[in-house]
Amino acid sequence: MFRHRAQQLASEFLARADAKGWFEALYAEAGNDYAAVPWADLAPNPNLVDWSIAQELKGVGKTALVVGCGYGDDAEFLAELGFDVVAFDVSPDAIAQCNQRFPNSPASYQVADVLNPPAIGSQGLDFVLESYTLQVFPPALRSVAISKISTLIAPLGQLLVIARGREETDPPGQMPYPLTRRELATFEDLGLSSQSFEDFLDN
Ligand SMILES: C[S@@+](CC[C@H](N)C(=O)[O-])C[C@H]1O[C@@H](n2cnc3c(N)ncnc32)[C@H](O)[C@@H]1O
Repeated sequence: MFRHRAQQLASEFLARADAKGWFEALYAEAGNDYAAVPWADLAPNPNLVDWSIAQELKGVGKTALVVGCGYGDDAEFLAELGFDVVAFDVSPDAIAQCNQRFPNSPASYQVADVLNPPAIGSQGLDFVLESYTLQVFPPALRSVAISKISTLIAPLGQLLVIARGREETDPPGQMPYPLTRRELATFEDLGLSSQSFEDFLDN
């Protein structure tokens, strides 16, 4: 039912060419009822956790950014790894919930739009996490978001993207629109190099 409500709000807002307003509408409607937000697991993304263990990811002395941070669990996880974390989301209600849930957090939670990102860290960030946010953008805006994210990464920094995927030959589907490898390769066109790619079934 809640997934249905998210789809309903998304359709309403997307029909009037507003690709982001529905997030604030959904978070505001949910209030403290976190279960009303379909992606809210209130735990760090297990794919991020597994990847960080496999990579022996360490954050002490490094900066990290979480794009579209939702309720903040991934940002808290990265802060626990020692990163100096900035996390932003376009929804003021989501950010208010981050501050309510983690009042003593060392992470800095900000309201910001990835399509018009704030200046964060003059050198770029050492580690940038994007999980399940690129896939909410229709294709035209997604390429803008990809190019904006690529400007936020330090020259030797790392980006981790976690997203639904599809083959080029699959239909584009409905929001959340799965990404193709070609779309991900745009990051390489923008100067990043691909370190690893994993195609997996999410449990
Ligand atoms: C599908 S949710 C994923 C949330 C979180 N990353 C996770 O994995 O649980 C997408 C998130 O991106 C945020 N978002 C959508 N459009 C955005 C934009 N233009 N700039 C920043 N955040 C945005 C939404 O408010 C929402 O919290």
